Amino acid sequence: MSLRSSVLRTKDVETVLHQNDPTPDGEQAGLSKRLSAKDLTGFGIGIVIGTGIFTLTGIEAKNHAGPAIVISFAIAGVVSMLAALCYAELAAAVPTAGSSYTYAYTTIGEIFAWIIAWDLILEFALGAAVVSRGWSAYLQDSLGLPTGLFGETAPVNVGAVLIAAVLGVVAAVGIRESKWVTNALVVTKVSVCIFVIVAGLFFLKTANLLPFVPPSEPSHDDAAGLAQPLWQWVSGVHPSSYGFVGVLVAAAVVFFAYSGFEAVANLGEETENPGRDMPRGLIGTLVICTVLYLLVCLVLTGMVDYADLDEGAPISDAFHQVGLGWAGFLIGLAAVAGLSSVILVDLVAMGRIGYALSRDGLLPPSVGRIHPKFRTPTRITAVTTLAVCLLGAFVPLDTLAEMVSIGTLFAFVVVSIAVAVLRRTNPRMERPFRTPQVPLLPVVSALSCVALMASLAVDTWIRFLVWLAIGMVVYFGYGRSHSRLNTADEEPASEPATRA
Ligand code: ALA
Repeated sequence: MSLRSSVLRTKDVETVLHQNDPTPDGEQAGLSKRLSAKDLTGFGIGIVIGTGIFTLTGIEAKNHAGPAIVISFAIAGVVSMLAALCYAELAAAVPTAGSSYTYAYTTIGEIFAWIIAWDLILEFALGAAVVSRGWSAYLQDSLGLPTGLFGETAPVNVGAVLIAAVLGVVAAVGIRESKWVTNALVVTKVSVCIFVIVAGLFFLKTANLLPFVPPSEPSHDDAAGLAQPLWQWVSGVHPSSYGFVGVLVAAAVVFFAYSGFEAVANLGEETENPGRDMPRGLIGTLVICTVLYLLVCLVLTGMVDYADLDEGAPISDAFHQVGLGWAGFLIGLAAVAGLSSVILVDLVAMGRIGYALSRDGLLPPSVGRIHPKFRTPTRITAVTTLAVCLLGAFVPLDTLAEMVSIGTLFAFVVVSIAVAVLRRTNPRMERPFRTPQVPLLPVVSALSCVALMASLAVDTWIRFLVWLAIGMVVYFGYGRSHSRLNTADEEPASEPATRA
C-alpha cells in the first residue's frame, strides 16, 4: 500500500457502528450502555463549568475586556454552539468512544484521525492539569493552607497531584461511580452560579458597568513578542487591551470555559439511545452553561469595578468586597467541589480515547484493555492520571490553559469539516439528528474557530505545533504499521477491519 493511500485510508461507518455488537454467544463486547440524556448533560456541565468561569473571568475582564467580558463569553458561546450542532450530527450517527477521532477516521482519513486523537489527549490531559492547579489554589485560598504546597507559587503543587490521583482512581473504578460523584458535584456547581446571580443582583451598581466596552489602550510589555495574538504578530498591529480587540482576545481565552462539552460525545457507546440523547446532551449542556456564564459575568462586573477584580478567586473575592464574607467563603468551597468534577470527567474521557486508539491498533492493544470487573479502560486511565499528576505538579496554570483552548478549537475545525464531507461521501447514512444549513453552518463554524485560534498567543501556537510534530513521530513510528486497517489489508477479506 502506498504511503498516501495508507495515511488517508478511512474506516467504514457501518463497521464502526457494529464493532460492539454482542458476540454470537450473547456476550457484550465493549462498554456497557446505561446513560440517558440527563446523565449526558450532567457529564457535560460537570466538565464545562470550571476554571473558565471561576478564574478566567476575573483575569480577562480586568486585563482585556472590562464589563464587555459578557460579549466575549457570548462570542465564545456562539462558536461553541455552532461546533456543538456539528458534533450532534456525528455523535448521533456514529456513537463511539472515540468521538471526533472516529468521525475523522470515517471521513477524511487515518492520519487526520490520529492528529485529532493526539490533539484530544492534549486537551483533556492539560485541561485536567489546569483545573487540578486551580482546585489547589481555591482550596489554599478558602482554608488558608500553606502556599508552599498548594497554589501557583508552590515548587511542587502537592494539592494538584493529590486531587488528580484520587479522581483517577474514581474514574478507573467505573462509570457508575463517576456518574454518581459527578452528578453530586454538578448540582453544587450550578447552585453556586445561581446563588451568585441572585445574591449578586442586590449589589449591582450601574456605574461599574459603564463604559461597557472600555476604550482601547496599548498593551503593556509582557503582552508583546511571542505572547501577543498570532494575527497581531503577523499583521504588525501594536498589541492593545480593551476596545473591540480586547473583547476578541478575551473571547479566545475564555473559550476555555466552554471546552470539554464535546467529551459528552465520547460516551456514545455507553448511551442507551444515542440518536435521541446525544444531541440533547450536547446542546442542553451548552445552553445551560452559556446562560449561567453570561449572567455570572454581568453580575460580577456589576458588583465590582473590573479594575478591582481579583485574578485568583474573583467570584468569592467580589462577595468579600461587598461585605458578604460568609458567602465568599462558601462560594470558594463550592468552587473546590465544582472543579473536582471537571477533572473527573476529563480523566474519564481520556480513558475512552485511549480505548478507541488501541482498539484500532494505533496504540498497543494492552494500553486500552477493558478491565474485566470495572468494565473501564483502567490501564490508559492510570497512565494518563500519572501524566496529569506530573503536569499539575510542575507546569504553571496559564501556560497549560491556552494550550487547551487551541487544542479544542482545532478539534472543532476538523469535526465541522467532517460533517460537510460525510454528507457528500455518505449521503445515505442514517442521521437521527441533522446539522441545519450544511455546508454553510459547518463552514462558518470552522472559520470562526480559526479566527479565535488566530487570537491566541504565538508561543501557544509554537507549543501546539511541536506537540503535533511529536504525534507524527509516534504515528509513523508505530500507528501506521500497526493500524487494524493495515492488518486487515493483509488478512483474508472476511476479517472485519475494526473488530475489537
Ligand atoms: N471548561 C472547563 C473549565 O472552564 C475546562 O474549567
